[in-house]
Amino acid sequence: MRKTTASKPKKKTIKKAVKILSRARKKTAQPRPVKTKAAPSYSTFQLLRGMKDILPSEAPYWQFLQKKIEELAEHFGYQFIETPILEKRDLFIRGVGRQTDIVEKEMYVFTDPGGENVCLRPEATASIARAYIEHGMLNLPQPVKLYYFGLMFRHDRPQAGRLRQFHQAGFEALGSDHSVIDAELIAAAFTFFRDIGISASIQLNSIGCASCRETFKSELITYYRSKKSLLCQNCRDRLARNPLRLLDCKEPGCEIVKEAAPQVLNFLDEACQGHFFKVVEYLDELGLPYSVNPFLVRGLDYYNRTVFEIWPDKKEAEEGQRDKEEEEREGKSPAQASLGGGGRYDGLVELLGGKQTPAVGFAIGLERVISQMKEQGLPSPKPASPQVFIAQLGEPAKRKALKLCGLLAGQIKAAAALSKDSLKAQLEIANRLDVRFAVIIGQKEVMDETVIVRDMEAGVQEIIPYKKIAQDLKRRLGLT
Ligand code: HAM
Repeated sequence: MRKTTASKPKKKTIKKAVKILSRARKKTAQPRPVKTKAAPSYSTFQLLRGMKDILPSEAPYWQFLQKKIEELAEHFGYQFIETPILEKRDLFIRGVGRQTDIVEKEMYVFTDPGGENVCLRPEATASIARAYIEHGMLNLPQPVKLYYFGLMFRHDRPQAGRLRQFHQAGFEALGSDHSVIDAELIAAAFTFFRDIGISASIQLNSIGCASCRETFKSELITYYRSKKSLLCQNCRDRLARNPLRLLDCKEPGCEIVKEAAPQVLNFLDEACQGHFFKVVEYLDELGLPYSVNPFLVRGLDYYNRTVFEIWPDKKEAEEGQRDKEEEEREGKSPAQASLGGGGRYDGLVELLGGKQTPAVGFAIGLERVISQMKEQGLPSPKPASPQVFIAQLGEPAKRKALKLCGLLAGQIKAAAALSKDSLKAQLEIANRLDVRFAVIIGQKEVMDETVIVRDMEAGVQEIIPYKKIAQDLKRRLGLT
């Protein structure tokens, strides 16, 4: 048998530590945030450009957002789906469009060891459409409503709000062309931002169907050709390859040209116009703050009819747009960076080899949401805190505490600091974690087969038989 080295703890020691704890609790109404020191930079390996580590200090934001997304999905009737990060390259070439920035410049493409051309997904809508076809979801009651949460990859120039690896939460409704689904989805997106306290508004447009767009595109090209000398080089290239994207350019000269450009809403046929008016009517009915933005076209080729984005409301944006470069230097996201965006994609499923299936969806950029929460001064979400803390004094008590942690797993969220010997240090941790109850085990308790349960708020404690501890804590926590 192994000898224990810990000196015999006295009842007095427990009392003293508990007293210190009570004093400390009075002083600290709020749990103290855990400070993390910046790591020394002696490592040979560093993050790839445009990538980000999510450190424990950021974890409460991610847990909070994930929970909010799950709640939103449940409320609006969306079911969870997860598709692989790696897909065939051609899925996106065909789905997102060969001439989009994403496909032309931003995909992480490589040949896998089996000789297949694959890529890290730059977005997930094409993957969802693939999964819808592949798993015969057409045979399910329509619309099929799916949501996901995952990593996307775009090899763009990294800057504030633009990463090469980032998280999206997305919602897709496949199998209905009814404008009420567009409105419901826009409402879901807006609800998300309202619920987390971000002040934002909806930018809305309709880009019609392929035939409306053909007429519009030729008008757009005629107009922009007449202004070619005023355009940036990028827009001159876009003129031939992807004229709709001309409306996206943020260069000051091109912004001025855009002001008098033809507007897609004037080119909608009757059916597309009817669809758009209905969406607007539903949004009015819901009282949602939207602005019709005739220049919103979105950067992915699969869209038709409704397109929308969620933009943060910013003081700077209201007071007159500040220099974008200046904001980026300050590490803030540019005023016009969308927090989320989406729209209708009625042709995508068919384009990928399925039956004609109307669909609509949106995705939220979660890193941008977190930056925005900070920028708008929202309180940081509270870390998920344990319900009880198990403190021990002496080797036999340590063993008992280790056992108790296992016993409570799955029933009660318990924390402990088993590697610590000092009861004072442990109770300080308990205090910082803001637990409601501390379970204290000393030598005497081990011998008596009991534990001390201390109500940290009331400052009173009770001796409980060890066997009854789970039951007792559940009762105290209102879990029975
Ligand atoms: P998206 O506009 O390309 O749409 O991306 C949606 C959101 O992802 C953006 O509004 C932004 O918040 C975030 N995001 C995009 N690129 C980056 C980046 N490089 N770094 C950080 N965040 C970024 C789509 O991806 C469509 N699949 C949305 C959709 C779903 N449409 C229909 N269904």
